[in-house]
Amino acid sequence: MLIRSICCIGAGYVGGPTMAVIADHCPNLQITVVDIDQDRIDAWNNPNLNSLPVYEPGLDAVIARVRGRNLHFNTDVDAGIASADMVFISVNTPTKVRGLGAGQASDLRWVEACARRVANYASGHTIVVEKSTLPVRTAEVVKVILAAAQDSQSQSNGHCTRTFSVLSNPEFLAEGTAIRDLEVPDRVLIGGEDKASVEALAAVYEQWVPQERILRTSLWSSELSKLTANAFLAQRISSINSVSALCEATGADVREVARAIGSDSRIGPKFLQPGPGFGGSCFQKDILNLVYLCRYFGLPEVASYWESVVSLNDWQQHRIARIVVEKLFGTVSGKRLAILGFAFKADTNDTRKSPAIRIVSDLLEEGAQLAVHDPRVNPEQIARDLCLQPSSPPKVNSGSKIRVTTASGEGIWWVADNVEAAVTGADAVAILTGWHVYQQLDWISLAPLMRHPAWVFDTRSVVDPAVVTGAGLSLWRIGDGQR
Ligand code: NAD
Ligand code: UGA
Repeated sequence: MLIRSICCIGAGYVGGPTMAVIADHCPNLQITVVDIDQDRIDAWNNPNLNSLPVYEPGLDAVIARVRGRNLHFNTDVDAGIASADMVFISVNTPTKVRGLGAGQASDLRWVEACARRVANYASGHTIVVEKSTLPVRTAEVVKVILAAAQDSQSQSNGHCTRTFSVLSNPEFLAEGTAIRDLEVPDRVLIGGEDKASVEALAAVYEQWVPQERILRTSLWSSELSKLTANAFLAQRISSINSVSALCEATGADVREVARAIGSDSRIGPKFLQPGPGFGGSCFQKDILNLVYLCRYFGLPEVASYWESVVSLNDWQQHRIARIVVEKLFGTVSGKRLAILGFAFKADTNDTRKSPAIRIVSDLLEEGAQLAVHDPRVNPEQIARDLCLQPSSPPKVNSGSKIRVTTASGEGIWWVADNVEAAVTGADAVAILTGWHVYQQLDWISLAPLMRHPAWVFDTRSVVDPAVVTGAGLSLWRIGDGQR
């Protein structure tokens, strides 16, 4: 079964970069990425590669090579499906906000809509690939919808010209390193029953991925592996974050503890970095989905176990805001703070479930005045995330002791174009994203711009403690009980 054309439904953080890398390695394939969001498609087609809808290091170079050659972006979903041998479903699968399973189960309406559209517009034999992260046994739903289309065609014509097979091929890329993860994946996972279809998809990846890294499993194992992979990664972060609090209470240093335990080859060093809690669009949603499935299948103890990973994460995010308030003499009302970083991790413009959202919201609730800086996140996105429009910054002179509170005493925020502007007149700096530029800040020059006594709260372990304290600033670092 030779694949010549691919259609990917969903031009998001997964669909765009994944199809770009496939197109790069498979020049004989024609790939069309379709989406119902016209603005997103326009941004993918923007000649200015700085305006792509997804910021990923290295993505612009890949797009420059393949766009218009064998990678195309448009909104004609039906035509894309009709001309494809293989259709990837790479649409969003957020947590349901209402109805049965609200707050935990995945909302599959977009996946179902795609399956129905494929059922209507596909021609010949079409391999349908689940790329979205889905609850185990979702392929059953997709198969039932596609089988109904086959049956109704047989009934009306007496024969069936359209046939389908369904595969699960979850994506394991992490944002910020997506291109590297796609170029050199730890593994590619393909779940399916129809051997010829599995091999057809494997043949695409074999253009650049070594054979031994392409794993073939059943549909259900593949779907469940994706959910549990994310749950295991998130569990390690919650584990080290729980230890960070204990380190602060006991005089230990969580970085030293992480290094010591991570040196054990059975544990390994990755995903042991303490922080303000995990963010991103998937960890929380996928664990809550796992929790929902466990309860559904009558496993309440297993559900509670995984649920605690999310509870610990919520606690860690609130804990950071509480510590900032406590260190600033119990109140931040009317005080000016610099927030460095709003993206959920470095090297992405994505803010979905960013810990910064909760921490900043808690500080606004306490009446703080926040100058927010992020190298890649746009101000409109921050306003949407905080459900609060920016204000104009109250005027202060560097080092001034005078503070003007807003008439209502409510918290306000504004965007600072650079770090100097953010810290000028601030009582504290909170580093919430580990952007490389924040590792290189010149604290000797920044410190005099602040109102003293002034604090640095480093939730990402990016500053050199000796330099910060040497500049006359008080320092709080995550999991550092030694000062
Ligand atoms: P996203 O929200 O960035 O993109 C999804 C896109 O699908 C949107 O542009 C939306 O307009 C489009 N869409 C929705 N319904 C459609 C329809 N019926 N027809 C055409 N287009 C439609 O989401 P994402 O971050 O790319 O994630 C997609 C899936 O991949 C999710 O299931 C997610 O859990 C999973 N995943 C994400 C990542 C990640 O790093 N973001 C990594 C691995 C897996
Ligand atoms: C994560 C997984 O790493 C990917 O394998 C998966 O494909 C993806 O989710 C998904 O399904 O969406 P991503 O969320 O993009 O990728 O980024 P990560 O590097 O996993 O970081 C997630 C969050 O955990 C970030 O907020 C990050 O700052 C935090 N983190 C990560 C830590 O606090 N400590 C660590 O040691 C690692």
